Amino acid sequence: MMKKKFIHLIETELLKKVVIKSEKAHNPVTAEHIPIGWKCVGVGNYAAVFMHYTEPELVVKINIVDKENLEKEADIYRRLGNHPSYSHLIYEGDNYLVLKRLEGITMYNAFAKGIRIPETVIKDINEALEYARSRGLNPFDIHGKNVMMKDGRGYVVDVSDFYKQGKDEKWEDLVKAYNKLYKKTLYKYPVKIPFKALDIIRHTYRFYKKIRRKLQWQN
Ligand SMILES: Nc1ncnc2c1ncn2[C@@H]1O[C@H](COP(=O)(O)OP(=O)(O)O)[C@@H](O)[C@H]1O
Ligand SMILES: [Mg+2]
Repeated sequence: MMKKKFIHLIETELLKKVVIKSEKAHNPVTAEHIPIGWKCVGVGNYAAVFMHYTEPELVVKINIVDKENLEKEADIYRRLGNHPSYSHLIYEGDNYLVLKRLEGITMYNAFAKGIRIPETVIKDINEALEYARSRGLNPFDIHGKNVMMKDGRGYVVDVSDFYKQGKDEKWEDLVKAYNKLYKKTLYKYPVKIPFKALDIIRHTYRFYKKIRRKLQWQN
């Protein structure tokens, strides 16, 4: 049930006022001048996501990348259809999408807050990615900030790169770390990991993957 009034509100309030900036490559964007009644529920490297208090079931994802990417993302949602571990597309605007809101927290924030991540979350996400493959999509760029959990269930929050070709190992690596490290340590004794430390891990991981790719090319 999509209200014309909500689209009007997005286009005359949110889009008119909010300023979304990308200050550094490979880092999340920032959102300023958020109008009253709206809340930023998350930022990625290419988009900021907002919620209005009158429509708590929905979010508005404003992309700062080209329109082509937005159309691709909308297409991916159409191809996924309805699946319990994904959001779905409600409306496609010029530079934004209205999506079903997923509740809970990202896995990244769960690490940061010392909230235990149960194995059922990993299982749900594995199944969701398998489902995407069965729909001819290529699950890509799945990492801690693109998956969420609530009440022991896992959700995939960002499908925007599922059209890409090639193999992306981020999720596989995360599952390995979960099985080999997390289950023996933080799972038993959840402690907060400072954002700064998580950022260092994120940058080290990028660096390590880059070196490895270079070495593979040379051999
Ligand atoms: N449907 C949604 N429901 C709730 N939160 C969301 C939803 N989509 C995105 N978010 C939040 O916004 C953040 C950025 O969205 P994302 O789609 O990952 O953008 P990007 O493509 O820039 O990475 C996510 O990490 C998540 O915290
Ligand atoms: Mg993302």
